[in-house]
Amino acid sequence: MKYEILKPEVNDGIAVVTISRPKALNALNTRFFQEMDDYIASVKNDSSIKVLVITGEGKAFVAGADIAEMVDKNGEEGSAFSRLGQATFRSLEKLNIPVIAAINGFALGGGLELTMACDFRTASTKAKFGQPEVNLGLIPGYAGTQRLPRLVGQGDALYLLMTADMIGADDALRIGLVQKVFEPEALMEETLKIAKNIASKGPNAVKLVKQVVRQGLGMDFDKGSELEAKNFGSLFGEGNEGKEGMAAFLEKRKPEWN
Ligand code: CAA
Repeated sequence: MKYEILKPEVNDGIAVVTISRPKALNALNTRFFQEMDDYIASVKNDSSIKVLVITGEGKAFVAGADIAEMVDKNGEEGSAFSRLGQATFRSLEKLNIPVIAAINGFALGGGLELTMACDFRTASTKAKFGQPEVNLGLIPGYAGTQRLPRLVGQGDALYLLMTADMIGADDALRIGLVQKVFEPEALMEETLKIAKNIASKGPNAVKLVKQVVRQGLGMDFDKGSELEAKNFGSLFGEGNEGKEGMAAFLEKRKPEWN
């Protein structure tokens, strides 16, 4: 598929995809979801990609779902547009590699929802965050009502959802909505350093961390702990990654991952 909105690149196993529709502050339309579905499938099929970074072009990361596309929809079409975005973000979340949102500017509505389907978030000091849907007489449609409270807790989530307040990077860091904040010109470089650091770790261990944490969140504690124990064991034994990592430590050398 030839992309009109996404600009993908890959360097040393780190994929970076830039959302580029700057005239509409990268607002998410049907075309975006078609391209993103195609892109996610291509990343899934490329075992050389170790980490994916998503960012936006210009002054926005993404300023939300495309209001111009939504305005004439009826109820049924509105629900369909919601499910379309939910499905894309769910498949992004289910990629087995780490996915980082590098938030360069406005991350509003559907834009913030996209960042929440990533594993963690870095942000520029200029980034702004919010769920402004109630300003439009709407609620979030891409699972923001579900991911935001799970991420930051019920109080901060309901505050953001009810007030539509736009918060800055410092507040986002304080409530745990983002994990690192950098000066605008350093955002990509620093995010790529984080991505490269992760890519240097045991690749199966990194994938299992994601899988066990994400699956475990939907389980009761004891079932989650058992899932951990099973997967912990899968890394042991001859030919497995943990064997090499532990042997390398004891032999005071760098591990060689397969
Ligand atoms: N959809 C469509 N177009 C958008 C857009 C959006 N979400 N956000 C911005 N744009 C367009 C503007 O209409 C404008 O287009 P024109 O130049 O053709 O007039 C262009 O992008 C630039 O925007 P502004 O002139 O408004 O830029 P600004 O710097 O003055 O303001 C802003 C920036 C505060 C982000 C403002 O654009 C804004 O409030 N945008 C809407 C944010 C929003 O409400 N997002 C939630 C959408 S609903 C949603 O996302 C629901 C869901 O979960 C599914």
